[in-house]
Amino acid sequence: MTDSYLPKGFLWGFATAAYQIEGAPHEDGRADSIWDTFCRIPGKIAGAESGDVACDSYHRTGEDIALLKAFGAKSYRFSLSWSRIIPLGGRDDPVNEKGIQHYVKFVDDLRAAGIEPMITLFHWDLPDNLHKRYGGMLNKDEFVKDFENYARVCYKAFGSKVKYWITFNEPWCSSILGYSTGLFAPGRTSDRAKSAEGDSSKEPWIVGHSLLVAHGAAVKAYREDFKEKDGGQIGITLNGDWTEPWDPNDPADVEACNRKIEFSICWFGDPIYFGKYPDSMRKQLGDRLPEWTPEDIALVKGSNDFYGMNHYCANYIKHKETEPTVDDFHGNLEILMQNNKGEYIGPETQSFWLRPNPLGFRKLIKWLSDRYSGPTFYVTENGTSLKGENDLPLEELLNDEFRCEYFRGYIGALADAHTIDGVDVRGYSAWSLMDNFEWAEGYETRFGVTFVDYAGDQKRHPKKSATEIGEIFGKLVKKE
Ligand code: NOJ
Repeated sequence: MTDSYLPKGFLWGFATAAYQIEGAPHEDGRADSIWDTFCRIPGKIAGAESGDVACDSYHRTGEDIALLKAFGAKSYRFSLSWSRIIPLGGRDDPVNEKGIQHYVKFVDDLRAAGIEPMITLFHWDLPDNLHKRYGGMLNKDEFVKDFENYARVCYKAFGSKVKYWITFNEPWCSSILGYSTGLFAPGRTSDRAKSAEGDSSKEPWIVGHSLLVAHGAAVKAYREDFKEKDGGQIGITLNGDWTEPWDPNDPADVEACNRKIEFSICWFGDPIYFGKYPDSMRKQLGDRLPEWTPEDIALVKGSNDFYGMNHYCANYIKHKETEPTVDDFHGNLEILMQNNKGEYIGPETQSFWLRPNPLGFRKLIKWLSDRYSGPTFYVTENGTSLKGENDLPLEELLNDEFRCEYFRGYIGALADAHTIDGVDVRGYSAWSLMDNFEWAEGYETRFGVTFVDYAGDQKRHPKKSATEIGEIFGKLVKKE
């Protein structure tokens, strides 16, 4: 038994994202996002699925809030669909009052249930029109202005009802999966170097740059015109997987571990906390990585009130001897599940990229806390899928001991990071409140603490982990 604890008032709850749960893609004036159009491209999504119905949460807000209440949640992190609020996306396009009213009512209902809303402005679902109109996130100047406008519309609509704002969720995914591997919307790849369309190998880095500047502009708007009056805080949520060397005695593998974190996390974290990109990235990418103008970096540096951390797993890292290819985005290294002794980093899950390792969570949050001089952290996502879960009979599936163990290990590691390592962490959202549309993996992979019966009218069935989380926090959060 450990004496580790989490601070009084710790804000714990569950997370979701609009496109993954809402459905109702054409209701009340919503227009397409890049994910609606991406899902229509054959071969992109497992089972040719889409978010057209998902968990039908647009029509079941009451049911979702009832689940949160039943699980004892203090907070709920969810995202707004930009395409419901400004269907065509741009600063000169009409604002859709019905979209706003839907979310305002939802926030009112959450607050009435005693649940603190935490809003993500952008969880990957860019209005498709902006992508078509001017290239979306590739067009920094237009995108930044339109994102700032959208953010302002939201700040104004919710005012003091919302105290926690997150600008972007995992910008690494939008940039790399959307513009390098093409696994995510809009599905562009970066291996078409110097084609007729231009140098595609620059695209992921340009997109990352646009997202950072848009984050900075939205934070500035909040701080200048809303923060004092409405009393909220704002930050960004970054990816966060831990790394261990494939061969701990090989200094090149140890260094590659650091480089992997720099390429996936510090790419965004360093401009925000230090005002520059990591040297390792500049060295490998040269002029593919955009240069900072004084105006842009002034927006970005110092733009986090808190650090939003998503975390799922750890990997073994082996350096590569060869020169990096033009479309390499990891930092010239291999990502492995086994080390040089053949040991696995953690047990298998349904997600090919995810093997749990709770100690890695503690190490990463400490590493980030040291690098960025002790920011306040909110863990904005953490959770697991379970190998073969989709094929289990309902009764067995609901008894998800594997997921319970995951949460016991991870939340315990977080309490150790707080108590023993002195990390300032104030909140935690489990991913996810319920099974939902797992992007390119469709509905095969389930991350929820609630089973959603897609074949049976989206009926929700809480799994064992849903109440386990509250029990874990009940023991760890200080009462006084
Ligand atoms: C992080 C993403 O933010 C979320 O949308 C996704 O479902 C989970 N990872 C699980 O893959």
